[in-house]
Amino acid sequence: MNLVEVHFEEADKTVFVEPGTTILAAAEMAGVEIMTGCTRGMCGTDAHRVSTESGDLSSVLEPAEDHEQGTLDRMGVGSDCRLLCSAKVRAGKVSVAGDALTD
Ligand code: FES
Repeated sequence: MNLVEVHFEEADKTVFVEPGTTILAAAEMAGVEIMTGCTRGMCGTDAHRVSTESGDLSSVLEPAEDHEQGTLDRMGVGSDCRLLCSAKVRAGKVSVAGDALTD
């Protein structure tokens, strides 16, 4: 199985995880502290901008499930934002920037 590379820009830490791992779980493995609330994709506390070199996020992340997408829509954040507790990695390399609302 090919591991997925997850890079946390602010902490400058990188971890390799199995596909299907949430970015929040990857952060815990990397020792990166993320502020969370519900951890169920409902509160939006952990919304962060994510990116990948190709620019095609669908190649590196699973699509947002309904509850996550509903929360992102309510927050009015851009399509490059995901909730780290809910966003699951798929393949390749994902970069996670700072908080979606303050950066
Ligand atoms: S911690 Fe509440 S949406 Fe992720």
